[in-house]
Amino acid sequence: MSPPEPAPVDGGAFRAFMAGWATGVSVVTARAGGRDAGLTVNAFLSVSLDPPSVLVSLTRDVDTLPVIESSRAFAVSFLAADQRALSERFARAVPAAEKFRGLPVHRGPSGIALPDGTLGAAECRVVSIAPLYDHVLVAAEVVRLEAGRDAPPLLFFRSAYGEPDPDGRLRLPPPGRKSGRRTRRSPGRRRGAPL
Ligand SMILES: Cc1cc2nc3c(=O)[nH]c(=O)nc-3n(C[C@H](O)[C@H](O)[C@H](O)COP(=O)(O)O)c2cc1C
Repeated sequence: MSPPEPAPVDGGAFRAFMAGWATGVSVVTARAGGRDAGLTVNAFLSVSLDPPSVLVSLTRDVDTLPVIESSRAFAVSFLAADQRALSERFARAVPAAEKFRGLPVHRGPSGIALPDGTLGAAECRVVSIAPLYDHVLVAAEVVRLEAGRDAPPLLFFRSAYGEPDPDGRLRLPPPGRKSGRRTRRSPGRRRGAPL
């Protein structure tokens, strides 16, 4: 007799499990029709060395996705520990113009806006966009790298940011601490929130 099917994993339980996976934090930016767009991303990984390629997982309804789809390009900038405000700015569910208002940026050859003061950035050419469940996997080849500051990284762990203490040592959130902003919507990734 075949073993009984395990009960489906609950979304909340999965979110709590994923909160135990410590990640860095990045801002993914794109540009189309003369307009900048961007969001905070921690579902990011390197795919291959030859060619250098990366992958991001985006919720289907983020505003930056159609900009990436039409331009077939994006940039990813790694945030430093003292750039939590930048992470929060790009995680907000507000029009892109508001996210870029007054923000110090520079532009690479692609014309994509790259926030100043990060740990580094990669400009990428999209090679595939694959919807999967409630997300879209965007794979891209890295076409240009830019070194940035030599500083501690911004970390995300237990649904909260790792903070640098005055000596520059990174303090991770203690067990049970929650700081994710509550916003609206679908049972998957809520707008403005990481998995
Ligand atoms: C730390 C952190 C990590 C996040 N990671 C992702 C991610 O990997 N993919 C995603 O689609 N949204 C992620 N989000 C949520 C988006 O940044 C958020 O929904 C944003 O408002 C989308 O902006 P847009 O609609 O202008 O594109 C993250 C949020 C935070 C705070």
